[in-house]
Amino acid sequence: MTWAVSHRRRMAAEPEPTVPESDFAAADFAADVQAGLSGQPKTLPSKYFYDAAGSALFEQICELPEYYPTRTELALLQSQAEVIAGTIGPDAELIEFGAGALRKVRLLLDALQSPRAYLPIDISGAHLAAQAETLARDYPDLAIMPIAADYTAALSMPPAAAGSRRRVGFFPGSTIGNFTPPEALGFLCHVAQILKGGNPAGAPPAGLLIGVDLVKAPEILHAAYNDAAGVTAAFNRNLLRRINDELGGDFDLDRFAHYAFYQPRLQRIEMHLVSLAAQTVRIGGERYGFAEGESIHTENSYKYTPDGFRRLARQAGFQPTALWCDPQKLFSLHWLTLPA
Ligand code: AVI
Repeated sequence: MTWAVSHRRRMAAEPEPTVPESDFAAADFAADVQAGLSGQPKTLPSKYFYDAAGSALFEQICELPEYYPTRTELALLQSQAEVIAGTIGPDAELIEFGAGALRKVRLLLDALQSPRAYLPIDISGAHLAAQAETLARDYPDLAIMPIAADYTAALSMPPAAAGSRRRVGFFPGSTIGNFTPPEALGFLCHVAQILKGGNPAGAPPAGLLIGVDLVKAPEILHAAYNDAAGVTAAFNRNLLRRINDELGGDFDLDRFAHYAFYQPRLQRIEMHLVSLAAQTVRIGGERYGFAEGESIHTENSYKYTPDGFRRLARQAGFQPTALWCDPQKLFSLHWLTLPA
């Protein structure tokens, strides 16, 4: 995932552009693919996994028996909801980075004492609108303010909700693991600015509840990214299908193999697509040559030790305040606060 603010991205206060936003997105996609496949080694940014087909495949991954992060985090949120809510405290304005699974935020909203507002931030306006509508039916007293934006970019946030005593960020799913550590640090600093910005004078500390996947036995990690049903392989290859459909590519999906492995030294899973033959792929007017066995690096998924993640959080100005783990130490939820 790239920690960068595109100069083409529109800020909330700017006038309407004359070129549709979707054209900017297509231009970004084309430029990123061109740059990634021209480099050595070849890469593609993992953020492009998530078109409609890719998001549906990711939801299937979350249900797989081998993919432990989703169910472990959900179980943690469920079993610790009261403790977590008590630690966070009352009257929070909850900001979710990414309009993810409603199941997770519901667990939090149900346990929090008098949450004042819920602000999900997501680049997909359609997904956000649907999410806001569903939640509004079940939480009629909660102010729900969806923000359609790239949550890694500069944002103009609305003023704090009436009665709010502090901003609380929510970033579940270990999406932080898809950033490199320097990108993760940049993102945490960015989140700290957003959370600090909305705190009324004299309010209790703002904070971030964040889900982080843990370093563990390589076999467990290997299985999670190489499931027997082949859903992760389909999710990985879907990126090539997307390039074919949206950018006029001619990738033969059967000539690229899914390859995922754990790198203990870097504490990360790497996902690749490996060319099964020497071949040339055309995308638009460009040609890209692949040697047999050459790979496209499509994703990193970093794993942290509790102390390693706390160190990173401190560097971003957070105070690690509480930590919840499942009994098998597969996954962690960190409560990080910011000095008032
Ligand atoms: C979204 N993200 C946290 C997932 C992960 O585990 O890194 C994406 C994923 N890639 C393959 N499987 C799941």
